[in-house]
Amino acid sequence: MENDWRISHRVSQMTKSAIHEMTRLSKEIDDVAFLSWAKPTSGTPEHINRAAIDAIEKGLVGGYSTDQGLPELREEIVKKLSRDNGIRATIDEIIVTTGAIEGLAAVCMALLDPGDEVILPTPSYSTHARQVLLASAKPVFVPSPEDKGFALDIDGIKAAITPKTKAVLYCSPSNPTGAVYSEKSLRALAEIAIENNLMVITDEAYEYFVYDDNRHFSIGSIPEMRKNAVSCFTFTKTYAMTGWRIGYLHADIELIPQIRKAHIPLTICAPVISQYAAIGALRGSQDCVVDFRLHYLNARNLMCERLDGLRGVFDYKKPEGSYLMFPKILTGEGKKDSTGFCVKLLKEAKVSTTPGIAFGPTGEGHLRLSFCVSEDMINAAFDRMETYLGV
Ligand SMILES: Cc1ncc(COP(=O)(O)O)c(C=O)c1O
Repeated sequence: MENDWRISHRVSQMTKSAIHEMTRLSKEIDDVAFLSWAKPTSGTPEHINRAAIDAIEKGLVGGYSTDQGLPELREEIVKKLSRDNGIRATIDEIIVTTGAIEGLAAVCMALLDPGDEVILPTPSYSTHARQVLLASAKPVFVPSPEDKGFALDIDGIKAAITPKTKAVLYCSPSNPTGAVYSEKSLRALAEIAIENNLMVITDEAYEYFVYDDNRHFSIGSIPEMRKNAVSCFTFTKTYAMTGWRIGYLHADIELIPQIRKAHIPLTICAPVISQYAAIGALRGSQDCVVDFRLHYLNARNLMCERLDGLRGVFDYKKPEGSYLMFPKILTGEGKKDSTGFCVKLLKEAKVSTTPGIAFGPTGEGHLRLSFCVSEDMINAAFDRMETYLGV
């Protein structure tokens, strides 16, 4: 596509998504053990489905809502932000979005000018870099050191700031590494942002999935960051609502009308049926979130145990959060060519994984493995890998 005059530079410069490519290849093979899906495999909890069905039966879902989202949903979001994130908000500071992804895209379009630089701690979620490119801005990758558990490199971020730097965009808990950025490091990032007039855009999709003594911290809860932070959230992971396409963001009241100018041409409003389902999710019992977390914790422990059995082949950092991990390939060509390694693993062992190169320059030589699958799937995948690798 590089030379096709019909295609914008913004889009033609993007490489093909390795994630979608692996999904496409996986579909050509029968009986694959999937460790490549970063989506919850459990169904949406029944009470959430019920809230949507009730809204249909009451005839509430046929039209648009206000672009900012139903006020009653935003009221529930305000309570949740105060209870779980320490963010004190009003409903006017919230936009309900078509998943976190549309929210992040709208924020990038609203805040970035062509040529602006956006710092992304890497390995990073590939969609973030694409969103920056879509806004004709430039992703600047700052490696998160693997020997420090992929923690935020504050000095590296400071060193990467130029007069063109406009924002830092990160997700914690991290896709793909499973790192959870500490409150201390995020407070240090906040200081840098305030000193240098930088925006901090967060993707907190995995906020409830943190393990051991790690804690999720929202940088938007720091009062001094009020003008500098835009915090993006989603129902996708927390309530297994991937296909409902529903999320929300919180920003300074003065930014909201500007972000809405980008949000409306992207989506008009989030799906109304999903907004009613989201009200059901926030008003209903939160036991499902506790259950999902416990399931992922057990699955993480099992995956780490099974990786211990492949010690010579992979080295790994135990994920502190999310349901993803990012082991390093220690042997053979996989050290330099994660795509080749993943394709072989798929074709020869029938195990689907995601090549680390999809997650930025320091991702090469790694695999992304997802543990939001059943324990049977994890065991089947590792049994096959052990046989294939002759371990
Ligand atoms: C870090 C991260 N953000 C956002 C999303 C998608 O969020 P949504 O479905 O709310 O658009 C994903 C999905 O994999 C993700 O891993």
